[in-house]
Amino acid sequence: IGSKPLSGQRVLVTAGGTVERIDPVRYITNDSSGKMGFAIAEVARDRGAEVTLVCGRTEAAPPNGVNVVHTDSALRMRDEVMRRLDGTDIVIKAAAVADYRPASRADQKIKKSSDSLTLELVRNPDILQEVGEWREARGSGPFIVGFAAETADVEKHALDKLARKKCDLIVANNVSEAGAGFGTETNIVSVYGRGDFFEHLPQMTKRAVAERLLDIVKDARKGLANR
Ligand code: C5P
Repeated sequence: IGSKPLSGQRVLVTAGGTVERIDPVRYITNDSSGKMGFAIAEVARDRGAEVTLVCGRTEAAPPNGVNVVHTDSALRMRDEVMRRLDGTDIVIKAAAVADYRPASRADQKIKKSSDSLTLELVRNPDILQEVGEWREARGSGPFIVGFAAETADVEKHALDKLARKKCDLIVANNVSEAGAGFGTETNIVSVYGRGDFFEHLPQMTKRAVAERLLDIVKDARKGLANR
């Protein structure tokens, strides 16, 4: 199909940071800008895919020509992702999902009183892992790509996530490197896959990373089909 190799394919991309409410005016979030996920959504769209972009808090507006679903917390993002899995061909989880959320959300703005305040946090579900488990239980499902933002031991953590989260590719970036990670226009990533697949991408625009990543996904899916 020439320049539209993803036509007829459904691609779900998550992007941005989650927002975990403390009270009506305060929340916990992170530095994710959404740019990496947006670039992937754009390239998938340009290659003919029907793209759904599940967004948390992002810096810029999402690209045109994709179905945008706005979410805030990890719990909401999980619901929006899980209910769309059936019929999805590729899932790419570029969102920075909070690992913890406040144990309770105050209905009214929390007033200052004592000198210290303890905020209790509880674990959020790991959406990527749930997607992997959903596919495993069902015996079929989308090709799954996760992202991993690390500050040390990138390879070790990436390989661990690949196995534990039951995904097909992990795109790891060292967010402490200049020109990589949150907010920047460029990224420096390493892609890890099944069967010892490894490819390092030197510093390039997020658009170029997205293009190469979707090429890798294409090859890996072909490999799966041929087995
Ligand atoms: O936070 P962590 O490094 O484990 O994130 C790796 C991958 O897992 C990312 O693709 C991220 O979107 C996903 N993730 C998730 N749910 C979480 C934490 C991370 O889907 N609660």
